[in-house]
Amino acid sequence: MEIQLWRELLDPYQLAVDELVLKFSHMISEFRNSNKYSPIEQVHGRVKKISSILDKMQKKHISMEELEDCIDDIAGVRIICQFVEDIDRVVDIIRKRSDMEIKEEKDYITNMKDSGYRSYHVIIWYDVQTFDGPKRIQAEIQIRTLAMDFWATIEHSLQYKYKGNMPEHIKDKLSSASNAIILLDTEMSQVRDEIMDAQNMFQVKAKIVSDILINIQNLYRVANKREIVKIQDEFFSVYSTEDIEKLDRFSKQLDIISEGYRAQSLY
Ligand code: GTP
Ligand code: MG
Repeated sequence: MEIQLWRELLDPYQLAVDELVLKFSHMISEFRNSNKYSPIEQVHGRVKKISSILDKMQKKHISMEELEDCIDDIAGVRIICQFVEDIDRVVDIIRKRSDMEIKEEKDYITNMKDSGYRSYHVIIWYDVQTFDGPKRIQAEIQIRTLAMDFWATIEHSLQYKYKGNMPEHIKDKLSSASNAIILLDTEMSQVRDEIMDAQNMFQVKAKIVSDILINIQNLYRVANKREIVKIQDEFFSVYSTEDIEKLDRFSKQLDIISEGYRAQSLY
């Protein structure tokens, strides 16, 4: 197969990865913009390298014709969560979507691999539009916590380094590190509510501050400059109290002042 044909073959997969990453990233902003905790922390995507596809074809005796059916991770998306509990929420979100059809789920969290690998895998069918019309392709979504991702990244580098001949003492180290990760995730789960509260608080505060600053900017165009300076000084002093309720009251007062100037209609 020529290079040009590879590009044609892989193009729809790149489109799928781009679209999926965009959709999941947008979900993060949707949660955060409505002051909700996002079960998704980060999203990454990649199209499998040609060399890795060739390696896998050789290893699993897959012909060129079977390639697209038999290799389900040409398009790959990785969703990183903060807490183990978030993983189920993400899987639920995927199950409910009409643009992703689940082909297979693999729960390596309940059933950890011998290596110590933990992640939740979902293989989906996903439609992309090419200039030849619609094309249905497979994509692999790996969902894991930050801690699981840390372990998998290190283990993957070591696998690469030792090319299947990993020394026993390294395997043992990885295995005990994997157990430490399970413990870490469990401990983190126990403070999840508190961490979520703190993060929500941060989001709420950021939203109020942004509202206030937009209001001040609008007022700047219509109000007396000295008044604006006074408002700004007041904002700084309220802000420095670190009292969110005070900040919220100040923001509401500013809304009323703005309304008086009809300044809000400027934006
Ligand atoms: P593949 O031939 O790798 O697709 O195996 P499979 O079809 O049985 O799929 P599986 O769900 O086991 O693995 C798919 C992907 O999960 C791999 O390509 C890796 O990205 C990841 N993975 C699976 N096992 C391990 C592991 O032991 N260590 C690390 N670091 N990643 C793993
Ligand atoms: Mg696979």
